Amino acid sequence: MTTSNLFNIDIIKKYDKAGPRYTSYPTAPMFHTGIDGDVYEQTLKDVAKSDSPLSLYIHIPFCNTVCYYCGCNKIVTKKYDRAQPYVDLLIKEIDKVADTMGDTKRRVMQLHLGGGTPTFLNDEQMRQLTDHLHKRFNFVPDEEGEYGIEMDPRECSETTVKVLRECGFNRMSMGVQDFDPIVQKAVNRIQSKAETLRVLNDARNYGFTSMNIDLMYGLPHQTVETFNQTLDTIIEFSPDRIALFNYAHLPKMFMPQRRIDENAIPAPQVKLDILEHSIHKLLDAGYVFVGMDHFAKPDDEMAIAQKKGNLYRNFQGYSTHADCDLIGLGLTAIGYVGGHFFQNAKEMETYTADIEAHHFSVFRGYALTEEDHLRRNVIMRLMCDFALDYKPFEKDYSIDFKQHFADALDDLTMMQDDELLILNDTGMQVLTAGRLLIRNIAMAFDEHLRAKQGDVKFSKVI
Ligand SMILES: C[S@@+](CC[C@H](N)C(=O)[O-])C[C@H]1O[C@@H](n2cnc3c(N)ncnc32)[C@H](O)[C@@H]1O
Ligand code: SF4
Repeated sequence: MTTSNLFNIDIIKKYDKAGPRYTSYPTAPMFHTGIDGDVYEQTLKDVAKSDSPLSLYIHIPFCNTVCYYCGCNKIVTKKYDRAQPYVDLLIKEIDKVADTMGDTKRRVMQLHLGGGTPTFLNDEQMRQLTDHLHKRFNFVPDEEGEYGIEMDPRECSETTVKVLRECGFNRMSMGVQDFDPIVQKAVNRIQSKAETLRVLNDARNYGFTSMNIDLMYGLPHQTVETFNQTLDTIIEFSPDRIALFNYAHLPKMFMPQRRIDENAIPAPQVKLDILEHSIHKLLDAGYVFVGMDHFAKPDDEMAIAQKKGNLYRNFQGYSTHADCDLIGLGLTAIGYVGGHFFQNAKEMETYTADIEAHHFSVFRGYALTEEDHLRRNVIMRLMCDFALDYKPFEKDYSIDFKQHFADALDDLTMMQDDELLILNDTGMQVLTAGRLLIRNIAMAFDEHLRAKQGDVKFSKVI
């Protein structure tokens, strides 16, 4: 893939509009309160006998300082004594799920600890949590499982890295965003190169097999020149994966973003220049553009899975494990079980009261219809393969693809004219220039978005 045809500025400008990231389909705004703890309980019982693998997501919401750009679900506090009661609640929730699933033989192939900052827990609490998980669930061995944790390197001693590895984690994702001191000050995230490199090296020494670094463009005071220096440093660190996110500025939704000086946010043209430069640079450094913000080394399993057509998408982004039931644990956590989405309470008081009362804390969710499953799979294959073969869908869902999706395919003809994709009789191929606009292409197949056009707030696609 050449960089110049991946990045066509005129085309990007034409399609630069808000759209979902499709970590789920239907997207979270479709969730409703008709799906509650009782539905969750019954669904867990229904899937307990399945022999397909399981994924677990655990949300640790606490952070000890706030990064102004942050759009994650978090609670900012310096009160570390909040961690133990939270771990106690998680253990109760784990027990409730495991008891409901009874003597399930389902094997856990994926665990992801996200946040917030999971290392807000101290080493002892992390051991307590993971020991309990291993007691109640049947984990596959280290080499077969994808056991990841999101890290803030400012919070992580060498001992902690060692403990995390002993707790079973084998992959790590670290937030960096930008090393420039002016940018770091403007977003209230002061993080040195030295501490980041140290954590990365410690993780490698203790046997973590995959390291990801998060970067962000569109932050205040960023320029192509300053961001280039961050990229130089990151490329020298040589992580297996790099996520390059577009800063989603939604100050009405995320209070801390109101502390960002909007005048210092780079102009749209500068953002595009930074993106273009970054893509050139990462591809030149040997990374593969996997899609939707993600780059990986060619020998990384994410890049390999994409080549083989075995890449999937879930709430954590891309995954190399087949689309399996995902159990969400903790405040705000979202799960996907037995064709339903389930989301836990967003307020700590509610979550605490529910779990203390031995109830599930699901407050909303969504039961996928057959049509949703079909569209979810179409969007998933597009996002992961940048191509669609109509035949498997026609066979699995007994449809005539072109007839069923006539309106979507009609919408896509404009993109074909703009050389973003090729439509033919049996499928479609996303062209290099269309890869950056894959969200726009997927949106054509989102029937809920069509119905709600204009109602729901999403971030810009680029
Ligand atoms: C859930 S955060 C957790 C990471 C960890 N707490 C840390 O800060 O290192 C994961 C990533 O989301 C990205 N992120 C957070 N807020 C964002 C926003 N408003 N727009 C785009 N990406 C964002 C950042 O790159 C961040 O590293
Ligand atoms: S980016 Fe990470 S550390 Fe910063 S506020 Fe968000 S979750 Fe917390």
